[in-house]
Amino acid sequence: MAEESTQESEDGSVAGAQESLTVTDNRTGETYEMPISDGTVKAMDFRQIKVSEDDFGLMTYDPAFTNTAHCRSDITYIDGAAGVLEHRGYPIEQLCEQSNYLEVAHLLVQGRLPTQDEYDSWRYSITHHTYVHENIKTTMEGFRYDAHPMSMLLSTVGALSSFYPGARHLDDEEERCMAAIRLIAKMPTLAAFAYRHQLGQPYVYPDNDLSYPGNFLSMLYKMTEVKYEPDPRLERALDVLWILHADHEQNCSTAAVRAVGSSQVDPYSAVAAGIAALYGPLHGGANEAALTMLDRIGTVENIPDFLQGVKEGKEKLMGFGHRVYKNYDPRARIIKKHLDDVLEATGGLDNPKLEIANELEKRALDDGYFTDRKLYPNVDFYSGLIYEALQIPTGMFTVMFAIPRTAGWLAQWLEMLGDEETKIARPRQIYTGGRELEYQPIDQR
Ligand code: CMC
Repeated sequence: MAEESTQESEDGSVAGAQESLTVTDNRTGETYEMPISDGTVKAMDFRQIKVSEDDFGLMTYDPAFTNTAHCRSDITYIDGAAGVLEHRGYPIEQLCEQSNYLEVAHLLVQGRLPTQDEYDSWRYSITHHTYVHENIKTTMEGFRYDAHPMSMLLSTVGALSSFYPGARHLDDEEERCMAAIRLIAKMPTLAAFAYRHQLGQPYVYPDNDLSYPGNFLSMLYKMTEVKYEPDPRLERALDVLWILHADHEQNCSTAAVRAVGSSQVDPYSAVAAGIAALYGPLHGGANEAALTMLDRIGTVENIPDFLQGVKEGKEKLMGFGHRVYKNYDPRARIIKKHLDDVLEATGGLDNPKLEIANELEKRALDDGYFTDRKLYPNVDFYSGLIYEALQIPTGMFTVMFAIPRTAGWLAQWLEMLGDEETKIARPRQIYTGGRELEYQPIDQR
């Protein structure tokens, strides 16, 4: 590295040293210097490293983007080692304590906490866009009675793109803003319709008098009563759960929204791509898998055998581990606090799965297999228990994640559009197949 001098500082860097990386290609003996900025080197700087004039140049190989920053972002900060999560600089603990989901959605999408006037107008706009076109209802009715609610959500959000063709005009700020409002407003409506469809019950239209989570509970549970009155404890618990799920920087579904959105497709299609990514059991589907796992374990006595199976690689402890958090997921800590409130409100404190989950966590955190690999409970370990207490069927759990993540996806999509470094996402590959083969007619193979 550049200068010879000097003294090492606390972070290990050398005072006076240049912010650059020197690389020697041992194939040619050539040395290259690349700038380091924000703790990263540019992958494209490696392209200059060639063995000959006609060589394509060196690429970096990172199949799951485990060590690749694909954008600059000022939305969400995570320190995985310390278990810190902040949105636009505000710690998640403060937001859960003092804010509500709609305000956090404003913070994410608009970039700042709203003034009272801004909040009132934001809330009004979202409340007055919760209805969906009646033809969307017909689309929903076309699904089989046992269709997975995530499939229904994925399809109907994709279908919204055909109802708002103006959203394709990405350079129109008004259109971009309306798409964000419509998606945040309509996601709970579509989710609740999917739930009622499964039960064969009539869809319940939004109630503009209720809060954002209160309206969702009404669309889920309202039957013959003239007005549904949500339990404030459940409303609050849902609000907190949704704040916790609102954004989580470059996870699989957010990266999908950015990658698909980089083709300049409309936001409904880009968000549908995010929903598809979230559907998978290693991402948003983990809360459903965690609850199924607790069911299967059945009793506290079966925990040692179960954990032995995990350690032998037969299965995973669902709701544990995270690509970024190598410490307790701060969201899991907050959820755990709210779990008791919900169980008390719903009379679910004697749920045997609660005891199994607590004991499972205790034993895993006391076991070298998990501690050596820095595997701690993530947000999905306890969220399933809350959803179950709310009598939300397991198939709906990932839908419950998709509703709040919509604000995060939109904030990231808007940021991506406004970033002058954005280009269509187009990774490279290492080709491993055959070359220049001779085509054989089918009867000669
Ligand atoms: N149970 C048992 N072993 C595990 C688990 C687990 N849940 N997670 C990771 N490991 C092991 C893994 O087998 C590997 O062991 P070894 O080094 O011996 O091969 C080691 O820990 C490192 O794991 P990894 O697979 O390299 O870690 P990753 O960063 O690729 O995977 C993860 C992260 C979340 C996909 C993974 O931990 C997992 O599958 N967890 C269970 C599913 C889950 O709870 N997902 C929800 C994530 S949080 C919500 C969200 O953002 O979607």
